[in-house]
Amino acid sequence: MHKFVIANWKAHKTQSEALAWGSELAQFLSIRQEAQRRGDWPRVILAPSLIHLPYFHQLKSTAVYKNLFLGVQDISPYPDGAYTGATSARMAASYDVRYALVGHSERRRYFHESHQDVARKVSLCLEAGIVPVVCVDDEYIVEQAAALDRNDLDKVIVAYEELGAIGTGHNEPVEHVREIVETIKHAFGLVPVLYGGSVNPQNTAEYVAFTDGVLVGSASLTAESFGQIVMAACQE
Ligand code: PGA
Repeated sequence: MHKFVIANWKAHKTQSEALAWGSELAQFLSIRQEAQRRGDWPRVILAPSLIHLPYFHQLKSTAVYKNLFLGVQDISPYPDGAYTGATSARMAASYDVRYALVGHSERRRYFHESHQDVARKVSLCLEAGIVPVVCVDDEYIVEQAAALDRNDLDKVIVAYEELGAIGTGHNEPVEHVREIVETIKHAFGLVPVLYGGSVNPQNTAEYVAFTDGVLVGSASLTAESFGQIVMAACQE
């Protein structure tokens, strides 16, 4: 199966910065069109702020971008309806969003999201045809898995992100990540497991060697370093 490389922009980039990133990545991808045709090219997913989604949705119709998949950083725990400020999974799916981060540690910490909220988001994503990427740290893997609807468990992707590794430059030691991948597979089943937390072009290869890919925050903000991460995730 292909690897996943997800760019999580978080609350970064004005309109002009997003556009500039888009054209720089387009240049990068067009140079590597040959590599993209090979089977080892990872699945590249961009999760920008929702405000930039229509722009990237439009870009996807151009040939260079056809291998770029769209994701969102969060999704409403409610369906369509009177929920001011929310974006439902069904709405996101209409912009060809295929993946949604759910339960990122920043959402849990600053927006007080519970395991139950995450479980509701997972179900709504799956109903809308969006693959949920459930983010966990090692404190609550089992509790989060237990909160999900039993039928949803093996339909998700899990991203393991340790709090102390996010945005700090201190990526988690590979040996520890190996152990946690086992714990995740025990709790969720045979789901794809990604690593996130200070991933950069230099350390990507060691994580993709035994995981299903990487979730990238800071190093996704420049098209150049994100492009290098994509290349580093190409399998031998
Ligand atoms: P980081 O963020 O790459 O800046 O550590 C990862 C994430 O929080 O998704």
